[in-house]
Amino acid sequence: MNEPAIPSALAAASAEGIHKRFGSTHALRGVGLSLYPGRCLGLVGRNGAGKSTLVSILSGIVAPDAGEVSFDGQPAPSLVDVTAWRTRIATVFQHSMVVPGLTVAENVFLGRPPRRGGRGLGAVDWRQMREQARKIMAGWGFDVNADAPCGSLTVEQRQVVEITRALAAGTRCLLLDEPTAALERGAVQRLFDRVRQLREAGVAIMYISHHLEEAFEICTDVAVLRDGELVLTAAMTEVGKDDLVTAMVGEKSKDHDPERAGSPARAPAPAPAGPRGRGPARAPDLVVSSVASASTGVFLAGVSLTVRGGERVGITGLHGSGATTLARIVAGAATLDAGEVRLGDHVLRPGDRAGALRAGIGYIPEDRQAEGFVPLLGAAENIAMTITDRISRAGFVGRSAARNASRRWPGGSR
Ligand SMILES: Nc1ncnc2c1ncn2[C@@H]1O[C@H](COP(=O)(O)OP(=O)(O)O)[C@@H](O)[C@H]1O
Ligand SMILES: [Mg+2]
Repeated sequence: MNEPAIPSALAAASAEGIHKRFGSTHALRGVGLSLYPGRCLGLVGRNGAGKSTLVSILSGIVAPDAGEVSFDGQPAPSLVDVTAWRTRIATVFQHSMVVPGLTVAENVFLGRPPRRGGRGLGAVDWRQMREQARKIMAGWGFDVNADAPCGSLTVEQRQVVEITRALAAGTRCLLLDEPTAALERGAVQRLFDRVRQLREAGVAIMYISHHLEEAFEICTDVAVLRDGELVLTAAMTEVGKDDLVTAMVGEKSKDHDPERAGSPARAPAPAPAGPRGRGPARAPDLVVSSVASASTGVFLAGVSLTVRGGERVGITGLHGSGATTLARIVAGAATLDAGEVRLGDHVLRPGDRAGALRAGIGYIPEDRQAEGFVPLLGAAENIAMTITDRISRAGFVGRSAARNASRRWPGGSR
């Protein structure tokens, strides 16, 4: 590992000799790194390399099996003291951690609202809370209404709320775990601007990504994790993309596509069996004919496409282009004004989610945190939720029936 340019005593946050196991998986094997004020460290590595595990440990959510975390050269506070830990380091996770039912200002001061008569047990000073939230956001040029309920915000705006929350707590060290995953392009650029601005103001940043382009765009330094080991740390100017790809995959491969480096190796898709085919039955064709919609605020003007059984078709477009609306219509989660959707010979009834499910159309929504699952239920209940008609008895779904049904899926309860 390269010697850090600045002595580690000046690091805002440091991890040293971190080990973490999950059962038989040795997720981190003696990882050490430091984050410095005014620098942005890109942490890159393929899926499963251990990036998120390191983030959880630095954030004080997970205790390491061995090793230490320190802030400004001092040992980290006890994991029990969440508030103290939060003032040292804050994390914007891949999935939003704002409370949708509370306003922006309430989320910014979650758990530590300003009180009348200063600190202590005085009544919450709501006016002060709004004003402070507004002031912090205005100071950084963040354009979000402090009184808006967070449930009405875009993914980008929720991220802004989380960054503001960190700044309000006086945190000078920020971790961003794959923050662009759910953002459209304009929002990504705005996030980059914010990250640069924070860095120039002396905040220490760790930026986790498996997109190398992003790392090159905003990071001053880079660290590569591979199979739980830190295999490279360097200033961004000292390394090229090839060096990083090689470090990530652990071998030289001439025609390796760096954009693919984040995904695990893919097996070629099985060829769909022919119409009279041998092998598994081919899935029916999905036919979208002249679908038009104006009711959801996004305009679709007669979209037609066919997805043949066995094909995978990507639909892309800028935010507001209608790609999500089209998916929602196909899934029966939104209705249409004209046209039809067919699966094989079966014409789907517009806006009939249950019917679409019965026909075999699964749907993983864009904002999975808000629409895709119920956080208070377990994995088994979430997996079984869409098939309750198949596993219920007399209208009730037993716990064991849900668990059995979910066991067939990776990640389901075991
Ligand atoms: N809570 C957990 N329980 C069991 N295994 C886990 C858990 N979290 C992570 N892992 C495993 O640890 C390894 C590293 O995972 P992770 O830190 O999420 O990688 P990355 O963020 O780089 O994709 C993976 O093999 C993953 O399956
Ligand atoms: Mg991860």
